[in-house]
Amino acid sequence: MTDAQERATPSGVWATAVGVARVRALETAREDPLFRDPLALAFATAGGFDPSAPRPERGDEAARRRWLGVAFSIIIRTRFLDDLLDQAAAAGVRQVVLLGAGMDSRAFRMDWPEGTRLFEVDTAEPLDFKESVLRQERAVPRCERITVPVDLREDWPAALAAAGHDRTRPTAWIAEGLLIYLPEEAVERLVGLVGEQSAPGSRMGLTLGSRGVLSRFGADAAAGTAASMWVSEMPEDPVAWLAAHGWAAETHTLRERAAAYGRPITSEPRADEGPGGLVHAVRL
Ligand SMILES: C[S@@+](CC[C@H](N)C(=O)[O-])C[C@H]1O[C@@H](n2cnc3c(N)ncnc32)[C@H](O)[C@@H]1O
Repeated sequence: MTDAQERATPSGVWATAVGVARVRALETAREDPLFRDPLALAFATAGGFDPSAPRPERGDEAARRRWLGVAFSIIIRTRFLDDLLDQAAAAGVRQVVLLGAGMDSRAFRMDWPEGTRLFEVDTAEPLDFKESVLRQERAVPRCERITVPVDLREDWPAALAAAGHDRTRPTAWIAEGLLIYLPEEAVERLVGLVGEQSAPGSRMGLTLGSRGVLSRFGADAAAGTAASMWVSEMPEDPVAWLAAHGWAAETHTLRERAAAYGRPITSEPRADEGPGGLVHAVRL
């Protein structure tokens, strides 16, 4: 059987990773992309998205607007976290852990200093799917890349250590588009465990669901869509929350980052727009 025949059909929460790849493929095709992700199209196509289909499909206008909003946030957050990882590398960090890595192709598309080890943590199914696409594309990582198939609700630190992660050296952790799919207690536990594996000088990049996103989007989301699987949003004060976990954090809003990257949001901010959900934290 060929890789394409063997590949599992994306389903459940990991199907969202292929949806993210679709957005990155569309961004990569722009003349002025905020990042280039040449593998994204292969992931999206393997997952059943037709690249020539209208973007997004026409139909329910509210759903279409919501899709465009989510797609925009994926583009901005991707660039934000690319920058964070560049800064971490410049500061001498040589271990990277992508939590809920999905179809993240940073190991293949970013410049990494010599000696960088990048761990991709996700469940087995998406990692197998990803591997089959990478084989098909003959993709070659630009750093040492290690996959760690484990559920983040289980003993993932043990699996990560067994895969070679060294908790005595600083790590740049990324949880991109992940925490919103985990219940609050799982988020709390995950952040606590990340802290325990973080030597001084470690960095962390998080994306948090904005306050009220569950009631605004999740409630009437169609079954099977990403929004229908969202279960948690940011705490009231993300900086104080992370300080209690041993991190000095700064938060950024989508609006502020979008303007900084030359893609300003022209609509008026909502009156109840809370703290930004893009987090850059440094281990204290
Ligand atoms: C929206 S995708 C984001 C993927 C990737 N971070 C990115 O931005 O391209 C969410 C990812 O989190 C993973 N995920 C969700 N819950 C998980 C869990 N309990 N254990 C491991 N991975 C999980 C999914 O499999 C999926 O790949």
